[in-house]
Amino acid sequence: MTLRSVIVGSGSALPVRAVTNAELAQTVDTSDEWIVERSGIHVRYIAGEGETTSTLATDAARRALDAAGIDAASIDLIIVATATPDQTFPATATIVQHNLGCNGGIAFDVAAVCSGFLYALTTADALLRAGPAKRALVIGAETFSRILDWEDRTTCVLFGDGAGALVLEAREVDAADPSAPGIIASRLHADGRYNDMLFVDGGPSTTGTVGKLRMKGREVFRHAVTNLATVLEEVLDASGHVPADIDWVVPHQANIRILDATARKLGLPPEKVVVTVDIHANTSAASVPLAYDTAVRDGRIRPGNLVVLEAMGGGFTWGACIARV
Ligand code: UT7
Repeated sequence: MTLRSVIVGSGSALPVRAVTNAELAQTVDTSDEWIVERSGIHVRYIAGEGETTSTLATDAARRALDAAGIDAASIDLIIVATATPDQTFPATATIVQHNLGCNGGIAFDVAAVCSGFLYALTTADALLRAGPAKRALVIGAETFSRILDWEDRTTCVLFGDGAGALVLEAREVDAADPSAPGIIASRLHADGRYNDMLFVDGGPSTTGTVGKLRMKGREVFRHAVTNLATVLEEVLDASGHVPADIDWVVPHQANIRILDATARKLGLPPEKVVVTVDIHANTSAASVPLAYDTAVRDGRIRPGNLVVLEAMGGGFTWGACIARV
């Protein structure tokens, strides 16, 4: 028998306010046609007063715990992936832990921007299999609207706010059985030479300010397709699977054209790709678990499916994970 991290529940949360492209075009020099054609985005959610990364993360976590039928008290590991924490410190994960009333276990944040959820998931998987924790909440949560330059039309139309969460449980499974659930393989990468392609122009130890997001969109696009196709092949090889075995790919939701191009590169039919960029826009670290939970709740992802999660973002950082759910 082998110890694996099994996904036992998912949840997500969105701010109350939905903002359409047409609404944005009233204050930004853009159009619904441009945004839809270049990105596939129709609407995004924007956090209002009282809605923060930790409130969204806590709501998503509660829904994931409900779906798993698990009491918060048994969670001994919380990792929040975010680039927009409530405060520089303490970690947003400790705020979520306090909100859930499950104090005493491990709680910390990871910062890998849009790949943050893959980094958090892989770290949680390692901690569950190594022994220090038995049940984990892995959360991606962001309020990117607070770090957008609303006068920069090349970036502000592309992002939104939200949160998604998975509950993982360490379980002994027969790894020789192809239907055994759990995370089968993950791969993470970073290449710091590309720091200046997607960054925030502020921070505690440089400007003493929070800063605003800056992106060279075309360059990010080019690297995204290549890096994502490569890392998807890596996790398939590591797990002994081929693209035809995959039931669902849950990609980072940055741009419909990146999703299409990556699927084409791997010979994956578009019907196997979960797309939510149209209704959520790019929610950075929240995008993969938000898309995953959406596809679970609408009946696309079902127990027994072979699912691949993947993301690429600032750093550059990128990664993928393959799991039987
Ligand atoms: O989450 C991390 C990963 N992030 C990504 O993966 C984002 C990757 N990049 C992209 O998704 C795309 O590159 C964008 C959606 C950001 C841009 O699409 P593009 O097809 O690469 O457009 P572009 O940047 O080449 O801009 C084309 C034109 C420009 O005008 P000119 O120079 O051709 O006259 C822009 O000024 O579109 C103009 N433009 C806009 N027009 C209307 C840029 N933003 C807007 C806008 N509305 N919001």
